[in-house]
Amino acid sequence: MGKVYLVGAGPGDPGLMTLKGKGLLECADVVIYDALVSPAILAMINPQAEQINAGKRMGRHSLLQEETTHLLIEKAQDRAIVVRLKGGDPFIFGRGGEEMVDLVKAGISVEVVPGITSGIAAPAYAGIPLTHRLHSSSVTFVTGHESAGKYRPQVNWQAIAHGSETIVIYMGIHNLPYIVEQLSTAGLSLETPIALVRWGTRPEQEELIGELGTIVEQVEKTGFEAPAIAVIGQVVNMHSILSECRPV
Ligand SMILES: C[S@@+](CC[C@H](N)C(=O)[O-])C[C@H]1O[C@@H](n2cnc3c(N)ncnc32)[C@H](O)[C@@H]1O
Repeated sequence: MGKVYLVGAGPGDPGLMTLKGKGLLECADVVIYDALVSPAILAMINPQAEQINAGKRMGRHSLLQEETTHLLIEKAQDRAIVVRLKGGDPFIFGRGGEEMVDLVKAGISVEVVPGITSGIAAPAYAGIPLTHRLHSSSVTFVTGHESAGKYRPQVNWQAIAHGSETIVIYMGIHNLPYIVEQLSTAGLSLETPIALVRWGTRPEQEELIGELGTIVEQVEKTGFEAPAIAVIGQVVNMHSILSECRPV
């Protein structure tokens, strides 16, 4: 029996991959990776390793969660090092927890290697610190993907609006009109600063900076698309000062 490593690939910049994760990619026998893992990270994989794209296979959009788990169990039965490579951090909106529980239940040895999540890295590369002593002493990470409600209680936007000074939303672009409406109904000012950061930390990174009341119109006008992180709160104003210092 081999071992499965749930490895966080980070947000895209290969320099943000952990040393432990890189070492595992270099000696893996099999790597099963997700759609958002950047080409620069995939280039680190042992050339002899079997590589399986779980984000696109057999002409289908993606493997079902059960199919991925089944594949991991099957590979761990005759390969020593099986890497399950996920964008960002495996446990942050990455289903890593679900996969790990299924593997433990199947009697497979498994370990997690955390990665830098896009919710932290994308704002950082855009010049937005999520906390700042003058502007924010609390952060909430939330999914904007409402189908999450199929599996557990829906996002309580009323609570999110008042829960912390910075709100970081993953998978929120498609539902942005709904999210904005929910947050403003909950009492968040339409003048609250908001930033959208697409492909954060990658060379193709793009940003859209605005206010809650007008951001949906800006998205429509510019054709801004996912994948992106949304940051809401006064810390977004730091972008005008710090975006000049972006990593190169
Ligand atoms: C299924 S979640 C996976 C999150 C991932 N586990 C993480 O920790 O970053 C996918 C969402 O993460 C965000 N995301 C992932 N990589 C990103 C990047 N490089 N730039 C901006 N957003 C990103 C987007 O909101 C995207 O829709």
